[in-house]
Amino acid sequence: MKVIALMSGAANTGKSATGITLGTMMAQRGQRVCVIDLDRQKTSTFYLKSEVDPDEPGQFYIGDVFLRRKRVKQDNGVKREVYLADAIRETEIENLFIVPCHNNISGDALDIARVSGAGHLAQDIQALDGFFDIVILDCPGELNILATAAVAAATDIIFCLAPTIKHADVEDVWNHIDMMQNGGATKATVTAVIPCIINRVTEGLFYQEVLQGILDSDRFKGLVTAQIRKQHFEPQAYGRQSPLPISFPKAEVTDDYRKLLIDLDGRGITTQAA
Ligand SMILES: Nc1ncnc2c1ncn2[C@@H]1O[C@H](COP(=O)(O)OP(=O)(O)OP(=O)(O)O)[C@@H](O)[C@H]1O
Ligand SMILES: [Mg+2]
Repeated sequence: MKVIALMSGAANTGKSATGITLGTMMAQRGQRVCVIDLDRQKTSTFYLKSEVDPDEPGQFYIGDVFLRRKRVKQDNGVKREVYLADAIRETEIENLFIVPCHNNISGDALDIARVSGAGHLAQDIQALDGFFDIVILDCPGELNILATAAVAAATDIIFCLAPTIKHADVEDVWNHIDMMQNGGATKATVTAVIPCIINRVTEGLFYQEVLQGILDSDRFKGLVTAQIRKQHFEPQAYGRQSPLPISFPKAEVTDDYRKLLIDLDGRGITTQAA
């Protein structure tokens, strides 16, 4: 099972859109995919029509899992604390599942640090091995305790970069990952860097002018994948709460994502286990 953390140096680089679109495509070809939403903006949760009301019994979100906050009744009547598996929900798309987020996660973050709950994510994800082929961790756009928990739980870290971000922001996140690797807090490595939301007009300038420094650095060498260009269908799909390959299945709309998936397959990141 691959556990892919989608990260970036800044917000709004296309992590959620890319994760949901790739996740849908993998589900469509028969892989079992679970998206875990770690962002208080809950983009993935909304996208997949999976918003929960945490005051309703039986409706769990990722904060409940980190904090082991609620209890579930087992078949024998005895209650136990809530695990990640309890929070997984089906979506309208076959083979695609989600663990939703809720805005309350902002308030939970301090408690997660206080009770050292961040490790619950990695622990619980290991228990999903065999049920899913791919787990996608949709990280927040900032380096907080949830992003750190995602790095700890991941097998692969994929950066989504947009032309607007600063080199230094990515360096910060990458240094954080280095530190976690050196301290034995994660076995994950950065295995791909996806240029996202590339403006078609400035497409050719993207590498030269905006991200040349990043792309030239030793760290990024060989990791940069096929790029995802900007197109107006993606925000429309989000508005419809129906992923791009479902809303707009035409080849010309989804082509960049298809090429990206082939690229990631070739890197051994998204291929189905034999
Ligand atoms: N290929 C694309 N073409 C056009 N718009 C896009 C594309 N990908 C993403 N967007 C839009 O760009 C914005 C940011 O995308 P998204 O929410 O996926 O980024 P993010 O990195 O997850 O952001 P955050 O850090 O806030 O979680 C959204 O409005 C989204 O609809
Ligand atoms: Mg997002």
